[in-house]
Amino acid sequence: MINDIEKVFVTEEEIKELTKRVGQAINKDYKDKDPLFIGLLKGCLPFMSDLLKYVDIKCSVDYLRCSSYAGTHSVGTITIKGDVPNVKDRNVIIIDDILDSGRTINAVRNLLLQNGAKTVAICVMLDKPEGRVVNINPEYVGGLVPDEFVVGYGLDYNEHYRNLPFIGVLKEEIYSNK
Ligand code: IMP
Ligand code: MG
Repeated sequence: MINDIEKVFVTEEEIKELTKRVGQAINKDYKDKDPLFIGLLKGCLPFMSDLLKYVDIKCSVDYLRCSSYAGTHSVGTITIKGDVPNVKDRNVIIIDDILDSGRTINAVRNLLLQNGAKTVAICVMLDKPEGRVVNINPEYVGGLVPDEFVVGYGLDYNEHYRNLPFIGVLKEEIYSNK
């Protein structure tokens, strides 16, 4: 697996630092607000699990399964599978690995607001602002990436590489072989 990586983009140490910074910001902003964290599966998993270790306020945790990608391109259609958590009157914080076009999180945010969420904030490990199609500005961002396809730490290419302990760029031959 490691041989498929062209370069490391964000090291394990840097991920730890950015996660801690985001967690501390949330502690400050959501003190006494009992936020409901909703992670978007499956990409949110490693980041969300780390983030929650830095969150020391009363909160709850839930998940939503959705997908929009096939290969390296967003397909534009968002599919939500399974039940939507009960968000009525809750201060929701959506957690995801990366914000690209913004379509996924925008669709999720609208759905949660329709379902009665009091507030909805967005927290992503990485932001790829150049990819943006929908007008959306995340409240919490760990780091910025240029318009390149990255994998690792939850981020996949066709369901692989999620388990890399850092964020990297794949070798071009990996895409062109398929
Ligand atoms: P959006 O709807 O275009 O913002 O897409 C967001 C979703 O696409 C994220 O949750 C990721 O699963 C996936 N995604 C976007 N960019 C990348 C990337 O560089 N690598 C892996 N997955 C990505
Ligand atoms: Mg994803």
